[in-house]
Amino acid sequence: MSAKPPKSVTHCVSAQLGKDPGYGAVIPPLYLSSTYKFNGLDQMGPYDYGRGGNPNRDALAETIATLEGGAGGVVTASGMAAIDLVLNLIKADQLVIAPHDAYGGTHRLLNSRQAQGRLRVLFIDQNDPAAVAAALAAKPALFFIETPSNPLMRLVDIKALSIAAKNAGALVVCDNTFLSPARQTPLALGADIVVHSTTKFLNGHSDVVGGIAIAKEAELAEKLCWWANCIGVTGAPFDSYLTLRGLRTLHARLDIQEANALAIARFLQQHPQVSRVYYPGLPEDPGYALAKAQQSGPGAILSFDLASDRDGVGRFVAGTQLFQLAESLGGTESLICHPASMTHRAMDEEARQKAGIGDSLLRLSVGLECAEDQIAELETLLAAL
Ligand SMILES: Cc1ncc(COP(=O)(O)O)c(C=O)c1O
Repeated sequence: MSAKPPKSVTHCVSAQLGKDPGYGAVIPPLYLSSTYKFNGLDQMGPYDYGRGGNPNRDALAETIATLEGGAGGVVTASGMAAIDLVLNLIKADQLVIAPHDAYGGTHRLLNSRQAQGRLRVLFIDQNDPAAVAAALAAKPALFFIETPSNPLMRLVDIKALSIAAKNAGALVVCDNTFLSPARQTPLALGADIVVHSTTKFLNGHSDVVGGIAIAKEAELAEKLCWWANCIGVTGAPFDSYLTLRGLRTLHARLDIQEANALAIARFLQQHPQVSRVYYPGLPEDPGYALAKAQQSGPGAILSFDLASDRDGVGRFVAGTQLFQLAESLGGTESLICHPASMTHRAMDEEARQKAGIGDSLLRLSVGLECAEDQIAELETLLAAL
């Protein structure tokens, strides 16, 4: 009789424990060595050189791949490295379809690779059936999804898009950074590859920059590992060690952060100084029904438009104390970000306008502080506007 697979919470807490062959350490030891001894000619051990393989990196990759329901994956030096790694699976001049409101760095990467002649890219509104149909008629090699999107929290239907894109012959890649496998598992919904910025919720402590690409099928996972070694984008052992440590508490963190985010979204929604809240946990949000169907929670990121001009936004963020004015998200601490001038400044004005990222938009990464304290700070700042 095969054992029942552990639940995601249990897996985060207990994966990789007690496997140390040297001293029986419960927590996997840190292997910093860049090179490993051969036992003789053609007698390599499990590892030879740190760029291609490392026990800490492999432990993290295996743990997250299991959480995502993938056959395997490769830990990279950043989320962008994971996305760029995946682009090696397509040939020059092939077409990539990407969301028009993707993370600014993804937008910049795809545009820059296109400018080099490395690929072609078409940014579309993936919620527009006519735009999706036209894009698929152009026979893309890769269909890139980011849901919820950064920073507008727009959701797309992973299952429906995966079926359509695969029928058109495309590889489906989904960026699951905003939710983590604790809230959404795109491979189960039809994606071929999941990418993450592990810098965010997976590590969860804003002290590591990292990424991962996970494939549903072993053959694809092997290709990703091959390319990661070939181009040298694999993550550092210590970063992997820290990320696995952070991952232990993923569910506990997200449960609290999500409850705080919902309380903040409800508060902002009724405030006269706020013109719109973007959070799929609110019944009024256009993504609410889809979030209920494909996610196991709305997550801990939300955005909102202030009913104010750029000067007002500047005054608002200048007064924050709990909410640090900073890029990134998914850590234990609350952050506030002005996407137009920070995370999405690499997008030109026209692309930002098209995506709906205006000057009054602010994004919150809701942390573990008391919701009462978080709301009190926002209330004071809104009252001062
Ligand atoms: C959705 C999303 N994908 C990818 C990235 C890139 O990750 P990294 O900063 O780790 O390179 C980010 C960074 O903010 C992101 O928000």
